[in-house]
Amino acid sequence: MRKARIAVLVSGGGTNLQALIDAQRRGELPHGELALVVSNNAGAYALERAARTGIETAVCLRAKGESRADFEAKIQRVLATRDIDMLVLAGFMAILSADFVARWPERIINIHPSLIPSFCGEGFYGLRVHEAALAYGVKVTGATVHYVNEIPDGGRIIAQKAVEVREGDTPEILQRRVMEEAEWVLLPRAAELVSERIAAGKA
Ligand code: GRF
Repeated sequence: MRKARIAVLVSGGGTNLQALIDAQRRGELPHGELALVVSNNAGAYALERAARTGIETAVCLRAKGESRADFEAKIQRVLATRDIDMLVLAGFMAILSADFVARWPERIINIHPSLIPSFCGEGFYGLRVHEAALAYGVKVTGATVHYVNEIPDGGRIIAQKAVEVREGDTPEILQRRVMEEAEWVLLPRAAELVSERIAAGKA
């Protein structure tokens, strides 16, 4: 069987990347292979996590004044030369254009730290998502893995997991609980699910 070659796109700390690496190590990603980590931030700690695991890394920066099309073309070139089959957005802080995502139909997945359609879309990223959930007063939040299309956080849902909001939660505490109980569990499972489908097509 030929495994699906996965590129993980990151911008920051990379705890979700780490969850993928750990899952692969435990044998929980049998149909996929973490082949490349692409960052749009040269200082992202995620790059170190990849390097110490022996995963190839690439940095694609968007220079000041550079068009999104040129920036995305750099990413596409890296992906094409590494023979990548699918992309996992794991804390990638750039919105991909409709043009870009159209080239990867049901081949890009993203993890979002709320139960979509709540607290999602443009402007809802990082701690802001959890601040909004607490401000609204919801008692349950969670995480969602979805396919990426041209609408931010708008693609078909693959998996969701609920997480309890507790009395006295701060955005930081809630963010950590959502990561531990939902994101780090869901993302590797979804990556395997999509890899399995791709690997079957490659067989
Ligand atoms: C996570 O909360 C994820 O849901 C969101 O960005 C954050 C990335 O964290 N899309 P990390 O870099 O994986 O630690």
